[in-house]
Amino acid sequence: MRHTNTLATAKEVKGVSTFVSTNPTNISDVVAEVPAASVADIVDAARRAKAAQKAWASLPAPSRGRIIANVGRLFEKNKESLSALVTREMGKVYAEALGEVQEVIDTCDFFLGEGRRLYGQTVPSEMPNKNLFTFRQPVGTALIITAGNFPAAVPSWYLVPALLTGNSVVWKPSEFTPAIANAMTSLFHAGGVPKEVLITVVADGPTTFTALEEGLEQGYINKVGFTGSTEVGRKIGALAGKHIQSACLELGGKNPMVVMPDANLSLVLDGALFAGFGTAGQRCTSLGSLWLHESIHDEFLAMYRDAVESAILGDPMKGVLFGPMLSEKYLDNHVKNLDMIKDHHKVMGSTGVGRITSSNPRTGFIGDPDAGYFAHPTIVSGLEQGDDLYGTETFGPLVSVGKFSTLEQAIELSNGHGYGLSSAIYSSDPKSIWTFREGVSAGMISVNNSTSGAEAHLPFGGNGKSGNGSRQSGIWVLDQFTRWQSLNWDWSGKLQKAQMDLIETPHNPDFTL
Ligand code: UN1
Repeated sequence: MRHTNTLATAKEVKGVSTFVSTNPTNISDVVAEVPAASVADIVDAARRAKAAQKAWASLPAPSRGRIIANVGRLFEKNKESLSALVTREMGKVYAEALGEVQEVIDTCDFFLGEGRRLYGQTVPSEMPNKNLFTFRQPVGTALIITAGNFPAAVPSWYLVPALLTGNSVVWKPSEFTPAIANAMTSLFHAGGVPKEVLITVVADGPTTFTALEEGLEQGYINKVGFTGSTEVGRKIGALAGKHIQSACLELGGKNPMVVMPDANLSLVLDGALFAGFGTAGQRCTSLGSLWLHESIHDEFLAMYRDAVESAILGDPMKGVLFGPMLSEKYLDNHVKNLDMIKDHHKVMGSTGVGRITSSNPRTGFIGDPDAGYFAHPTIVSGLEQGDDLYGTETFGPLVSVGKFSTLEQAIELSNGHGYGLSSAIYSSDPKSIWTFREGVSAGMISVNNSTSGAEAHLPFGGNGKSGNGSRQSGIWVLDQFTRWQSLNWDWSGKLQKAQMDLIETPHNPDFTL
């Protein structure tokens, strides 16, 4: 069925060309056709959003919280239909799509109450008849650029707190998932967010970057949030820095999972299957390298191989382990990554490698592999620190496996590539778990659980090549979308000078008992 995009902003944005998004399970199914925004369109959207921001910020925060509550209820009411659209346009399995939309609801649930908190502080003054306070001020207008792998949940991590704290937003979703962006935007507007306060534009990367540059120069963009590759994040961070801004960056990962000799291996199996192959490995939190202690290496590798080989793949509506890759681009990237497999590696996990087709089939596949962008799951064992595979984020159904003998070595292997997003350790020994926590540089650590699947109200973000220390979610994201303003109120009727008009109480410094 042809679905013509009805983006609330499309009418106002005169695109020069269109993006066509197709269902990656069946590429003859066109999901949406949307106008592509030009640089001028995006800058104009930022100008309009900027013009609407003050009135939005003057609405009391509890009223904005009520609007977020409405939005959350609308996502709940539309959970199944939006999840079905997520599966159709993005390709993740339906159970994960339901989880993704639930994450939007959870984010609204958290922030609707923040409208009544959004606390500042009262701070004691060093002088009498003087009061000190702090307030959170919105940053202004934010340009939010998000990826296609989490087309609903990750945008909500930006949009919901940005709006709640009184900012206006121009949202640039992935050009691979415009129908989901359209549906999301309509739900925000239906919940009461004014149309000019949240404007969605669909554009390619270079166009967005140029528009960001202009928007920053003209003062229409006061904050940029970006979820995507480290390479692009580096450029956006540098551009924001030039304009004395700090971008909120959520970048790549090469997330390690360390399995100690005392781990419960059947628990590890469930975790490594989900972390490695959930969302076809296209989460920033997906398992990158599985590090197995030498004493359980062969036993666990055989368990993992058997489980991956016998997993059912195919139609994402049919309860499979994973469905298609997000698009041809993501599939091509996965196939290219297979070049990093060298002679000292061993490959397992499927009846083939690369794209699944009728001539390169996967046993037990459900559906027509030729109709979509499906990839064989691939386990590569024999990983060594010097391998290209060790330090490269692969973003597909590709898990590399290596062995270690001491925990110190495992920690070094977990950090050595410079990414620091998520990590996991499986062990029943508190000493190993605490040593790992202290030693690992990742922003997020799971104990006896997957590297992926973070809860929506814990700080989410990474260090090193994974991010500049910015954190999303929960109370921590408030610092991304607000600036602290201090108020220094002297009602003594005279000039009292801080640090100079000291009140000293006499005391005896030589006193001893
Ligand atoms: C992402 O892939 O950008 O923790 C985010 C997780 C999900 C979010 C992933 N809740 O795996």
